[in-house]
Amino acid sequence: MPQTDRITIRQPDDWHVHLRDGAMLRAVLPWTAAQFARAIIMPNLTPPVTTAADAAAYRGRILAARPPGSTFQPLMTCYLTDSTDPDEVERGHTQGVWVAAKLYPAGATTNAHHGVTDLNRIRTVLERMQRIGMPLLVHGETTDPEVDIFDREAVFVDQILPPLLRAHPGLKVVLEHVTTIEAVEFVRAHAPNLAATITPHHLLINRTSLFQGGIRPHLYCLPIAKRERHRLALRKAATGGEACFFLGTDTAPHPVGAKEAACGCAGCFVGPTALQCYTQVFDEEGALDRLEGFASRNGPAFYGLPVNDGSITLRRGSTPMPNAIAVGDDRVTVFRGGAETSWSIA
Ligand code: DOR
Ligand code: ZN
Repeated sequence: MPQTDRITIRQPDDWHVHLRDGAMLRAVLPWTAAQFARAIIMPNLTPPVTTAADAAAYRGRILAARPPGSTFQPLMTCYLTDSTDPDEVERGHTQGVWVAAKLYPAGATTNAHHGVTDLNRIRTVLERMQRIGMPLLVHGETTDPEVDIFDREAVFVDQILPPLLRAHPGLKVVLEHVTTIEAVEFVRAHAPNLAATITPHHLLINRTSLFQGGIRPHLYCLPIAKRERHRLALRKAATGGEACFFLGTDTAPHPVGAKEAACGCAGCFVGPTALQCYTQVFDEEGALDRLEGFASRNGPAFYGLPVNDGSITLRRGSTPMPNAIAVGDDRVTVFRGGAETSWSIA
């Protein structure tokens, strides 16, 4: 077979992004807007985005931070807490302020301490979301501190997700940034109401990568990367052409000082190299013909949105990418920065 050196796909979307706010937002947004037409914006700011008014204001700040000429569209989300009001969730949805709500089990990850302590507390919210067809986006890790960090997703999938889906059989749910065989198999078995996003980094690194030659704080994210057999299962899921898996980078910038610290933050800043990394993976798996489904079609189909009109072309070969970007006096390290990607945006 001749080698493919260029591929053009429908303009993709990113179904899981952390843009932050202020100077960080202004520094990172252009990278996401350069690759993706739309993105689901995570609401874990400090304080979190819990009201429709907060979300509308945040959306305004994102639109204002777009580079000149950019038509990038942020799709906002509501941060669920123990005291979320179902009427507020519905109001924001009806007004078109937000498209989905995010469930962070309290304390599961960065800025998740305002999250939900007990799913029973949001039962009426979930019932309302089911009724109005509003997707629930789930950070799927148990917060039980006794559970080994590498098992937290599998335990969530085994113990917490099944009763949640049983109680709300019509609820649309995205299990975000899946990292395990257990999650992939569960999603397959519960499609089409259940879907999953998969990040570039979880397709490229395993848990050994976190300690290659020494501790690698910039590869630390949550859920943490798992064993190689899990990475291989994720690659099969992403590239296999199944509609229940789609692109969500979980690009999550933190200043270098917050990553290279005695207690470093979780999150990989993968926005600038996301599509290049995904394309490399699809190429390595002999599945370039399936990239468009994963990147540009499965997500809109799940969310009930049209696919984008435009297209984007990638070419084999690397373009030097920055190792880090400047944010004021600070810097944020880019995942696979330098010239390590084998594909580039043409
Ligand atoms: O690694 C992560 N970083 N995982 C998350 O769930 C949150 C994110 C962040 O906000 O930095
Ligand atoms: Zn995230």
